[in-house]
Amino acid sequence: MSDSMNQQESAALRQEVQVHYRSDYEPFPYDIQSVYLNFKLNPEATVVESVLEVQRRAGFAPDERLCLDGVNLELLSVAIDEQPLDESQYQLLEEGLEILKVPDSFKLSIQVKISPETNTSLEGLYLSNGKYCTQCEAEGFRKITFYPDRPDVMSKFIVRIEADAEEFPHMLSNGNRIEYGELEEGKQFALWEDPFKKPSYLFALCAGDYDLLTDNFQTMTGREVRLEVYVDKGKLDQCHHAMESLKKAMKWDEDVFGLEYDLDIYMIVAVGDFNMGAMENKGLNIFNTKYVLASQDTATDTDFIDVEGVIGHEYFHNWTGNRVTCRDWFQLSLKEGLTVFRDQEFTADQTDHGVKRIEDVKVIRSHQFAEDAGPMAHPIRPDSYIEMNNFYTVTVYNKGAEVIRMYQTLLGRDGFKRGLDVYFERHDGQAVTCEDFVRAMEDANHYDLQQFRRWYSQAGTPEVQIRSFYDEQKRRLRLGFKQSCPDTPGQKDKEPFHIPVKVGLLNDSGQDIELKPITVGDNDAQVEGDIIHLKSTEQSVTFDDVPPNAIPSLLRGFSAPVKLDYNYSQGDLIYLFAHDSDSFNRWQAGQELFSQVIFELCDKLEAGQELFFSDAVIQAVKNILDNTTLDGQFQSLALTIPSINALMEEVDSIDIDYLIEARNYLKHTLAQELELDWLLHYQTNHHVGDFEQDKEAISRRAIAGTCLSYLMALEKDDVYQLALKQLGSANNMTDASTALQLIVHSNYENKLAVAEDFYQKWQNEELVVNKWLVVMATDPADETIDRIESLLDHPSFELKNPNKVRSLISAFTSANPSQFHRADGRGYQYLARQIKALYAVNPQTAARLTGAFNRWRKFDEKRQMMMREQLEEILQMPELSKDVFEIASKALK
Ligand code: TRP
Ligand code: ZN
Repeated sequence: MSDSMNQQESAALRQEVQVHYRSDYEPFPYDIQSVYLNFKLNPEATVVESVLEVQRRAGFAPDERLCLDGVNLELLSVAIDEQPLDESQYQLLEEGLEILKVPDSFKLSIQVKISPETNTSLEGLYLSNGKYCTQCEAEGFRKITFYPDRPDVMSKFIVRIEADAEEFPHMLSNGNRIEYGELEEGKQFALWEDPFKKPSYLFALCAGDYDLLTDNFQTMTGREVRLEVYVDKGKLDQCHHAMESLKKAMKWDEDVFGLEYDLDIYMIVAVGDFNMGAMENKGLNIFNTKYVLASQDTATDTDFIDVEGVIGHEYFHNWTGNRVTCRDWFQLSLKEGLTVFRDQEFTADQTDHGVKRIEDVKVIRSHQFAEDAGPMAHPIRPDSYIEMNNFYTVTVYNKGAEVIRMYQTLLGRDGFKRGLDVYFERHDGQAVTCEDFVRAMEDANHYDLQQFRRWYSQAGTPEVQIRSFYDEQKRRLRLGFKQSCPDTPGQKDKEPFHIPVKVGLLNDSGQDIELKPITVGDNDAQVEGDIIHLKSTEQSVTFDDVPPNAIPSLLRGFSAPVKLDYNYSQGDLIYLFAHDSDSFNRWQAGQELFSQVIFELCDKLEAGQELFFSDAVIQAVKNILDNTTLDGQFQSLALTIPSINALMEEVDSIDIDYLIEARNYLKHTLAQELELDWLLHYQTNHHVGDFEQDKEAISRRAIAGTCLSYLMALEKDDVYQLALKQLGSANNMTDASTALQLIVHSNYENKLAVAEDFYQKWQNEELVVNKWLVVMATDPADETIDRIESLLDHPSFELKNPNKVRSLISAFTSANPSQFHRADGRGYQYLARQIKALYAVNPQTAARLTGAFNRWRKFDEKRQMMMREQLEEILQMPELSKDVFEIASKALK
């Protein structure tokens, strides 16, 4: 552990950046009983006045200094109990203010000046499309005023906002508006009070001229809550889905968890410039427009579901995050893992449990496993960080949600709910730790979670190797398990995890047989129903009464975030693909079948052999396609070949060229061999006529899209015409964007004209233009690199806007493997240039881009060298942001 820590420390020293450790936690010596904030809004000179009621906490020495955080603030004045302080009484630091002597109890008044207009970091107070908004998580409040900007300091906020009445008719902050009035010179003010204590990261302010959609919700105890959605002028017709989603989320949390909303008003404001998806500020959520605006013409079926999910996520934070918050940022997964789990369950209940589970696991497999195996690997509760913003990760969020899901698996739904009840009973109004959460689960269920805690402390993806031994005479099946977890930066020789493995056994008529575990020795793992509890490195389970040829279905529902190693034959996989009663494992069997085929093809390519694979695979695909009892969304997922990103995580070193070629060969062969089938199913499912958005219509669009995608692999003119017709006649964005992508990613000769038409048609719908940018950036053609170079100067692109950066640049690096990993290195150069252009403008977004180099060690020597060179150059940049520094320096370690 110490070895790599030292390296990190010395790297950090060179750059003069500070490493923060979880073990260094110290409580803040003062209570802030109340905060009054007064904003005089002005683009380049907003004055923020704050008045804090401060009291030294019991047990802290009277000579304790008062240390406040502050970044990019111009201090105008500071006073204690109305007495202005002179410069000998405080110290202005690079990132804070220290007041040398303070009484036990006092009123602290501070005035600062800030410049929202020049704030391009999108953290603190900034302008988006002429309107003011804030983003304070994790440590953005310190860009607004001097304050103990840490989540364990909770206080009551009163906020006054003053601005021009005509330009900013709506002026919003947390809680209830208690006063409002006109002022001289065409100005007005509003006064807001939030009755709930909160940490500074949940503070929010918005001001501007918006369109407003209002509604009401009656809570389970009969209280009326006013609901408001604020959007840019002209977008009102695109907020109805968001409003409906909010009401569904409020009702769902009452029905499922008995959790009721606590204020009289709930506001959502949509902004076009936002670093993340959305933010759960108390009573005043701020959303990326991408997760609010949706209409049939502009949003796909997936967009609609994503809006509902994010609205749910932020709403659910009101209990899991706001009422009970985090003691420090190392505990982030306390609120995020839990809230992601809650939004996943919400979406599953609104849509389809099987389909949702597959979608969620895809994220874990392709993104989280990659993070866990790379230079940024960290436990869901990290031990250290340089820049907290770099730890809003798929590990903290999505693996965190998997850990929460495992509680439900271990304790049952009721036990999990009991644990949550105890958690809220004990900790409502507090800032707590992951440990507090585990203890609530333990105490509510009298269940020992000692070993389970390792999921919080150990990074890396555990690997579970399973071997089966069948005793024909005794008709017994023994499963032998070995678990291990690879070393990760700073962590070696890990202890075994408590891993719940859900299993089934299929007989030769495709049915599940009853599991009859028997005791044979001390290596036996405990079995509870269909869950095997792995707890030590090597264990086994023996089942009695097992017919010959039974096939085990392992890790059903992805019951733990682990990698499984079991040598399924192709025949086994085909069997499970056709019969498994667990829809997740049914999908999984197909994915494994595809990847086995692809890696065999890779071997053939390497050996210079002719490419082929078994007809049985083609038949297995046809069977899924022809199975009319299956849901179309499931079929679509089951028939989609694993992405290059997911495939890359299955091998230690990658020959990217072979991998892409093998994957294309598989797709092309399936397209050819089943041409008439794809065509038939396309024609039966592709619907022209009135637009519907029920489950059936969504399923039809999904499977039709998959069929068209296979057909397009044939590169035939009549298929191009089919796609062109779909694009031309589409009355919804799902069909339109699917067709656009397939055309632009094909070799159709007029594809650029088609792309241009689409742009012309949608140039005034920013979110649709972003889809267009994604399509352009992910075209596997060689010319793409030149096109995305010139798109940087296109009127639709803006480096300052994270949605644009994600559409043009992140889409390229994450979803265009053949061009990002070009042998000539131009893909890497392109990325590095954008990082260099962006780090000073928006450090958070630049750091996210830098993560695209994280897996550089998996590639061939030449590509490794080229990627490393770019990382080294980035590290040489003057005044590099600590965000990018952390990612790039860890990648090179
Ligand atoms: N708490 C937010 C969420 O998950 C995350 C978030 C929104 C965020 N904006 C951010 C995190 C900016 C860091 C920086 O819902
Ligand atoms: Zn969240």
